[in-house]
Amino acid sequence: MTAEVLLKTKGLTKKFRGFTVLENINFTLKEGELHAIIGPNGAGKTTLFNLIIGKIKPTKGEIFFKNENIVGMKPYEISRKGIGVAFQLTNLFQELTVYENIWVSVCSNFRLRWNPIIKADEAREIKEKTMEICEELGLTNKIGVKAKKLSYGDQKILEIALALANNPILLLLDEPVSGLGSNDAENVLKIIKQLHREKRTILLIEHNIDAVKEITNTFSVLINGKILATGSLSSILSLEEVRKVYLGA
Ligand SMILES: Nc1ncnc2c1ncn2[C@@H]1O[C@H](COP(=O)(O)OP(=O)(O)OP(=O)(O)O)[C@@H](O)[C@H]1O
Ligand SMILES: [Mg+2]
Repeated sequence: MTAEVLLKTKGLTKKFRGFTVLENINFTLKEGELHAIIGPNGAGKTTLFNLIIGKIKPTKGEIFFKNENIVGMKPYEISRKGIGVAFQLTNLFQELTVYENIWVSVCSNFRLRWNPIIKADEAREIKEKTMEICEELGLTNKIGVKAKKLSYGDQKILEIALALANNPILLLLDEPVSGLGSNDAENVLKIIKQLHREKRTILLIEHNIDAVKEITNTFSVLINGKILATGSLSSILSLEEVRKVYLGA
């Protein structure tokens, strides 16, 4: 059985004041994949995510999610279609606890923002969803801890937790292990693997191949705003351009 295409970009191009950051990106992601886009600093990785989630608009091209062109949709509409994102820069409310951070994210996905007059049923549903996410990510023993008191690795896991508030089918992770020590990185990778096993499609971006080769063997290489190749680790490392950038060959 061949997996369905979940996300597809066609001729996706982004220029900032005439400077081309992404050029003619034709990228396909199939349902159930755990796909890593790797590329050096400034390659255009985060820009690609910002385009997918509707934060910025492409100069040219289309983005299909489940065969629907999502270009021009508002970020909240795209989120509701089933795309969740965890960025490399922290979104956490440092003074709030783990539970409160997730609760806020779940609330905003219920289209309620800090509303104290929440109907009883909704309040229960929000609480249940919040606890479900805590359990899924192994955060239950830390629910009362303020975000600022968490290890950097747990903060990254909490970021991923916030992205789960909307039950995404597709989870986008922007450098989920960058800056982490090896123990923290291992924990985060374990969570990503688990989310993938639970049938989520995951697209992550990373500049370090070594950091993610334990959890996937599906790579795309983005260099200078262009996808150079897609394939297994050995197939992309056989390309001279990739070796030049990554191994100095
Ligand atoms: N809003 C913007 N306005 C102008 N230029 C931008 C904007 N956003 C990104 N750029 C430029 O686009 C290029 C790609 O940036 P992007 O953040 O997508 O790279 P990246 O691959 O995520 O890099 P990193 O590994 O450092 O996170 C960079 O040259 C950056 O300066
Ligand atoms: Mg980036």
